[in-house]
Amino acid sequence: MSILVTGGAGYIGSVLTEELIARGQQVIVVDNLKSGHRAAVVPEAVFVKADIGDKEALENVFQDNHVETVMHLAADTSVEYSMTEPSKFFENNVVCGMNLLDCMVKHQVKKIVFSSSAAVYGQPKKVKVTETTPVNPINAYGESKLMFERILYWFGKAYGLSSISLRYFNVAGASEQFGDDERPEKKLVSNILKVARGEQEHLAIFGTDYDTKDGTCIRDYIHVLDIGQAHILALNCFKESGSRIYNLGNGKGYSVSEVIEAARRATGTAIPVKICARRQGDPARLVASSKLAREEIGWEPEYPKLETMIESAWKWRKKYPHGYSDG
Ligand code: UFG
Repeated sequence: MSILVTGGAGYIGSVLTEELIARGQQVIVVDNLKSGHRAAVVPEAVFVKADIGDKEALENVFQDNHVETVMHLAADTSVEYSMTEPSKFFENNVVCGMNLLDCMVKHQVKKIVFSSSAAVYGQPKKVKVTETTPVNPINAYGESKLMFERILYWFGKAYGLSSISLRYFNVAGASEQFGDDERPEKKLVSNILKVARGEQEHLAIFGTDYDTKDGTCIRDYIHVLDIGQAHILALNCFKESGSRIYNLGNGKGYSVSEVIEAARRATGTAIPVKICARRQGDPARLVASSKLAREEIGWEPEYPKLETMIESAWKWRKKYPHGYSDG
């Protein structure tokens, strides 16, 4: 019995695959390597280079392997791109994802963990976001994640599919071996580390006029290893059928300025900054209540300290200054 991890050569997928293998699971990774890296897949996992939209390739994967559970992480993740190329975006994240679900139904694979996002909430009014906070995406990325959650709900009704959607907040950090090699870097921590390594002169802070304690945006950062753990715990929590949704965050918000301060301590570098205009579509504050994940799947983040996350990412980057091109 195997676990199929789509997008297993990406940042989160590579760490998750490593954690699954370490627990003795058989893992098949399907990834088109558009943004993932072959070297990010542990050698113990079976690797298939394919797009989830490729019906024939996917059919072969299901025919050749006894897949018991799918962990679906493959997706376009650039919010910016989602706003300029919505057609391509919905095709990749929704239409291609449907192909995966059709294959699962055909081969009677009933369990799926879906990589969703806090982006489904848009600009929530409540300070702490629970799973019942109204969803209202403000970009096509968040909309595509929400659409797929809804599709999973209806596949549960129609075919008895059992799904667990995990709404990640801001994922950061690295394992010893695998880290974030998104190109070009977009996320705050990655950009900060680029400045720390001297590859960029300063960090652009996108807005200091938000209605927050220091005027910069507040986010809930969560260690990639803890995200992996949530998937592993979810494996034992599937019900007969139906869909469930959990927020994954630490419940503590850090402003952009606080993240920079933590990174200065973790890296021992100055990290010069430049105040810039707001980036379009950034909510002022996104902090999770993950009470439900704690109660229902027994999830307890092991690395809640922001500095620990940044230290691990820094350690990984120092080991692999050019990311996966180092082998
Ligand atoms: N930021 C900067 N400078 C940078 C990069 C980011 O000031 O160079 C700021 C952003 O404006 C934002 C905060 O840092 O206020 C965090 O930005 P990230 O890009 O790291 O993360 P986001 O919160 O925008 O997005 C992340 C994921 C998305 C996901 C979203 C869900 O990257 O995929 O969380 O909330 F949709």
